[in-house]
Amino acid sequence: MIEAEALEKRYGGFIAVDKISFKVKEGEVFGFLGPNGAGKTTTMKMIQCVSPKDFGKLEVFGMDVSTDQRKIKGLLGVMPQENNLDPDFSVYQNLLIYSRYFNIPQRKAENIIEELLDFVMLNEKKDTLTTLLSGGMKRRLLLARALLNNPRLLVLDEPTVGMDPQARHLIWDKVKKLRSQGNTIVLSTHYLEEAQRLCDRLVIMDNGKILVEGKPLELIKEYIGTEIVEAENNPAALSCLEKTSSKFEVVGDTIHVYTDEPQRVMNALLKECDFGKVIVRRATLEDVFLKFTGRKMRD
Ligand SMILES: Nc1ncnc2c1ncn2[C@@H]1O[C@H](COP(=O)(O)OP(=O)(O)OP(=O)(O)O)[C@@H](O)[C@H]1O
Ligand SMILES: [Mg+2]
Repeated sequence: MIEAEALEKRYGGFIAVDKISFKVKEGEVFGFLGPNGAGKTTTMKMIQCVSPKDFGKLEVFGMDVSTDQRKIKGLLGVMPQENNLDPDFSVYQNLLIYSRYFNIPQRKAENIIEELLDFVMLNEKKDTLTTLLSGGMKRRLLLARALLNNPRLLVLDEPTVGMDPQARHLIWDKVKKLRSQGNTIVLSTHYLEEAQRLCDRLVIMDNGKILVEGKPLELIKEYIGTEIVEAENNPAALSCLEKTSSKFEVVGDTIHVYTDEPQRVMNALLKECDFGKVIVRRATLEDVFLKFTGRKMRD
């Protein structure tokens, strides 16, 4: 569905996307993860044909983004990171106007809009100006708008940001349903639990580059292990751990020990190292993310 090779985007002298290569297969949910400013939105905008690439290859549905924008845009559903709803119109009118870009006949559009408003639970707000919606409601309306043309490929830039848990679960269900119907979905998110649940494959980006690519569970297994033993950080504990062969990392006032045998490690720590507080938890995609992108906050 999407093929990128040495794809590059510059803003003046600044390289926002730095020669990245990836493929998105038909029917999969593909994720872009990365800290603020990593280049996720910039990449997605090139896929959506709203921001031209500078170098490299980018094909969507086998078509070149530089020459087939109109065709590609017609087959895509897009949920942008920034709200770009029309502030002068109601919820319903926003959807109706948007449906005209796809030449959907009015009668048909009206039916689709009713269904979509039900789905995102905005029926009661259909005559409300979009400026008067809550943040989460605006996101839900943007999702409904992205689905108007029954797209084969959905591009969702942080779809659930600001949504309450109910709405978030609803979106997850919808993404899974769309996928089961053979649709392809590309999404970015800072909610790593969401990425872990939804994505078949994902990339972690930073500074415009792809650092790693894979399936969520395989990435966790390969780079972290299945479990993490967390213990209080103190000099005695550290010097004791250094004597063992455990793989560990100091994270602020906690020590993370990466292991596939948490019980054994925990018992050993409690017995030999005299750790005060020890907990065992499952390794998550967040651990992988922090391992690759570090713990420092971005500009
Ligand atoms: N129109 C623009 N002009 C100049 N620089 C830009 C422009 N758009 C984005 N950038 C820069 O490109 C880099 C990548 O931005 P991008 O929006 O792709 O990040 P992101 O990964 O989506 O981050 P976030 O998680 O915050 O949404 C940033 O350093 C940003 O400041
Ligand atoms: Mg972004």
